[in-house]
Amino acid sequence: MPTIDTIGVLGCGLMGSGIAQVAAQAGYRVLVRDTAASQLEKGRISIGKSTAKLVEKGKLSAADREAALGRLTFVIDLADLAGCDLIIEAVTEDLALKNELWSQLDRLCPPHTIFSSNTSSLTIAAMAAGTSRRDRFAGLHFFNPVPLMPLVEVVRSIGTSQETIDRLFGFVRRMEKEPVVARDSSGFIVNLLLVPYILDAIRAVERGVASVSDIDTAMRLGASHPMGPLTLADFVGLDTLARIGDIMFDEYREARYAPPPLLRRMVTAGLYGRKSGQGFYDYAKDPPVPVELGL
Ligand code: 3HC
Repeated sequence: MPTIDTIGVLGCGLMGSGIAQVAAQAGYRVLVRDTAASQLEKGRISIGKSTAKLVEKGKLSAADREAALGRLTFVIDLADLAGCDLIIEAVTEDLALKNELWSQLDRLCPPHTIFSSNTSSLTIAAMAAGTSRRDRFAGLHFFNPVPLMPLVEVVRSIGTSQETIDRLFGFVRRMEKEPVVARDSSGFIVNLLLVPYILDAIRAVERGVASVSDIDTAMRLGASHPMGPLTLADFVGLDTLARIGDIMFDEYREARYAPPPLLRRMVTAGLYGRKSGQGFYDYAKDPPVPVELGL
């Protein structure tokens, strides 16, 4: 089996930078590609902060941090990824954009290169179809915050070879994360169960079952979840959540995946959660306080 030494990460947002970080910490040489230098710089700063926090907590030595940072290269030209053994795509959930990148990389990369996507709700088949390497195409779904969350879903699509799955399991384990294999159906395992749960919590707010903070407190203390569902919605991003819900509703045509009207109104109003400063909570306040939603 060809070894995996060099990783190419497409997209230097929250997920892409986290994936690049954990791969570099595991000893891989990593090329992170984005279209704008400013986005690459944001990712570089966030990796710097996250690894500094790990050193502060005694989870990473200062020398290992320096070595990991030294294994990262930030690039704009897609052609720089031509020598990678594994590509992990973490760009916006836009199939046309992803497929444009895959079609270019399919021409640039050698036959042994594995293509993988961190998509949370699109199918792998919809990306692999346009390439010449269906057997070397899989899903590799990480969870936010990537440096702390130990799970990676490895997604087997139509035609994905066992060798590809085995190579990806080896890669995930070397990052000291736990791989699980899932079929190529929208939402895989975690989002199939998590997204309707979060959407149900938003429906509970709409129906006036309880306040935002009481719903969160109830699930934290009554079900031992690290975060309540509405805090988690803000953490994932309300725009992202609505987009995932739409894609899953498109796939299954089941009402439980459909974003509820309140979620749509909040996205329209620019309340995206933590990243925009306001969602179900106002993050300008410490601790964050529930936002008046006019219900
Ligand atoms: N890198 C390094 N350190 C980090 C970090 C990062 N990216 N993010 C947080 N930390 C640190 C914090 O700074 C904090 O340090 P401190 O103790 O010195 O203040 C420490 O980790 C613990 O963080 P918190 O104080 O916020 O406390 P928690 O104990 O709540 O841990 C958490 C944070 C791990 C995020 C926990 O709340 C959790 O597990 N939440 C649920 C996350 C979850 O469900 N993620 C999945 C989302 S779904 C998804 O990603 C799929 C997608 O497709 C939608």
